[in-house]
Amino acid sequence: MKTKLTELLGIKYPVIQGGMAWVSEANLASAVSNAGGAGIIAAGGRDTEWVREEIRKAKEMTDKPFGVNVMLMAPNKDEIVEVVCEEKVAFVTLGAGNPVPYIEKFHEHGIKVIPVVPNLKLAKRVAEKGADAIVIEGMEAGGHIGSQTTLALMTNIIPYIDIPVVVAGGIADGRGIAAALLMGAAGVQMGSRFLLTTESTLHPKAKERILQATDTDSVATGVSRGHGVRCLRNTFTEEYTKLEASGAPQEQLDKLATGTNRMAAVDGDIERGAILVGQSLNVLNEIKSAQEIIEDLMAQTKETLQKACEIGK
Ligand SMILES: Cc1cc2nc3c(=O)[nH]c(=O)nc-3n(C[C@H](O)[C@H](O)[C@H](O)COP(=O)(O)O)c2cc1C
Repeated sequence: MKTKLTELLGIKYPVIQGGMAWVSEANLASAVSNAGGAGIIAAGGRDTEWVREEIRKAKEMTDKPFGVNVMLMAPNKDEIVEVVCEEKVAFVTLGAGNPVPYIEKFHEHGIKVIPVVPNLKLAKRVAEKGADAIVIEGMEAGGHIGSQTTLALMTNIIPYIDIPVVVAGGIADGRGIAAALLMGAAGVQMGSRFLLTTESTLHPKAKERILQATDTDSVATGVSRGHGVRCLRNTFTEEYTKLEASGAPQEQLDKLATGTNRMAAVDGDIERGAILVGQSLNVLNEIKSAQEIIEDLMAQTKETLQKACEIGK
């Protein structure tokens, strides 16, 4: 399959595995890249030595392009950027902060830059400043979310941007990929689908909870404070939502939420931890290898696109 994204990154299929803090490391990223997509190591919450080691491990495990996700609100962001430049990965995705000051530096090291942007104004700004592509991520996504849906973002942004647009949020099967391509996307970024891979390090208890979850089981916490995070309903989200509604100060909410991603993903505490996952839950019903998932996704994408061509005749 050939799109502006496959050409930009030199990959076979227009599918990026989104950076997922505490879950996506060398094992998952290299498996996705070996299967023809582009894997990403998530640097969020990690120290520089961990990032360096995972990049080196991934290089041992694949000769295909892979990337690193850098959260620009992290206190050690500048050190992480240094390590990523020294280790020279194929591309970075940049979220949660202003990517503009970093674009030139990554380019000097031959690294492609793909910022995650929440609206058209910022999409235009990063495109003007030399970004190679952008990710737009709808509020259906697992993890930190903005205020627009994936469909609204595609409608609002794709026609006005010349660089490749990668669409994320709620895309969990080949029909979603086909829909994004039909809307003019150059590719998709998927997170939740890759949580349920044999290669993902997500704790087995969290994987099991996601397998059992259905469409109405996700909730976005913190939306009223402008810090939306989508995860599965559990004891943690109930407590957080109650506290949020009570008008509790932000520090109290932050205290309750601190460390909860790790608690669910690494320690397997599926009641007091935050199980980050998107809204498209009904199709997340089996654990497979990254390669099998990508093969299934691509077969369904092609079938859906062919059907669309027939309808359009
Ligand atoms: C468990 C989990 C952790 C995530 N962590 C990050 C992160 O560290 N940085 C980031 O930019 N996005 C993060 N995301 C968002 C993903 O990269 C991706 O854009 C999102 O999962 C796409 O929506 P989907 O979950 O519906 O596929 C995370 C998502 C999940 C599910």
